[in-house]
Amino acid sequence: MQRKGGFLVSQSIQTLMVVGAGQMGSGIAQVAAQAGVRVLLNDVKPEFVQKGLANISKNLVRNVEKGKMAQDEMDQVLSRIQPSASLADVKDCDMAIEAATENMEIKTSIFKQLDSAAPAHAILASNTSSLPITEIAAVTQRPAQVIGMHFMNPVPVMKLVEVIRGLATADEVYQTVHSLAERMGKTAVEVNDFPGFVSNRVLMPMINEAIYCVYEGVAAPEAIDQVMKLGMNHPMGPLTLADFIGLDTCLAIMEVLYEGFGDSKYRPCPLLRKYVKAGWLGKKTGRGFYVYS
Ligand code: CAA
Repeated sequence: MQRKGGFLVSQSIQTLMVVGAGQMGSGIAQVAAQAGVRVLLNDVKPEFVQKGLANISKNLVRNVEKGKMAQDEMDQVLSRIQPSASLADVKDCDMAIEAATENMEIKTSIFKQLDSAAPAHAILASNTSSLPITEIAAVTQRPAQVIGMHFMNPVPVMKLVEVIRGLATADEVYQTVHSLAERMGKTAVEVNDFPGFVSNRVLMPMINEAIYCVYEGVAAPEAIDQVMKLGMNHPMGPLTLADFIGLDTCLAIMEVLYEGFGDSKYRPCPLLRKYVKAGWLGKKTGRGFYVYS
């Protein structure tokens, strides 16, 4: 193994634990395994891990059917991903990427457990979409080795990884994670730790404003989405995108911006709060700004 300044240099990340086997975690596990990294896919229940593995298989089979991947390559990718039922398995890993629920208590509990079980050289990353990396790092004994690695949904398709430096993140750790993202076929963009980073500080107020347009009767959801798709060349309109991301996630991110900056320009639209209270969370619950069968 190569080391620099006490940390592994990029090429040395060989074994990675992904914590959380949902949509984001399974996507991260897939692109890591495709990059030749051995992956332990962890979740609180074995059936969640199995669901994540099924999602990965489905994506890879689609690639094989389209002629974008050979069958034996797919088999190799799948053989690199092992299920894990315990965070203690991180003892054999060079790095962990946490992609669990967007809740500070859950994340800090995971980071404390990872920190106590991981080898001294291991890097601990969070895929959080807006929670503060510096605060997560502060619950560990290795804040210099904690970093944000924010993938976009759907992970196998989207090119960006926002790499977020916490206040204490070491340069070598940033370089290692930057290179790992590039090995995964992504473009890493460096960002400092402020509420919402860059992606959600820019994206979420736009989505929130689109929801205000519905709330104030400016236009129907379809019309708002059409304006942004046809007028601004966005691949999805903001309300379709909000449904796709999950309205609970959108609200949680707006709350982080609102509280983090203390600025009323980030106040979540009351209609967004109402939809979340109603359980209309978007595509995943079958109803948001649109109805899904
Ligand atoms: N998983 C894996 N692959 C997927 C996929 C998924 N969930 N959805 C689509 N794809 C693949 C398709 O298989 C297809 O692959 P090929 O080119 O190899 O055929 C390709 O993506 C394009 O898909 P489609 O032709 O079906 O549909 P499309 O052209 O409309 O693209 C899209 C779908 C890529 C999702 C596109 O609509 C898009 O870019 N939407 C915006 C997505 C976006 O903004 N994501 C960021 C959300 S914000 C976020 O993630 C951060 C946060 O913190 C909230």
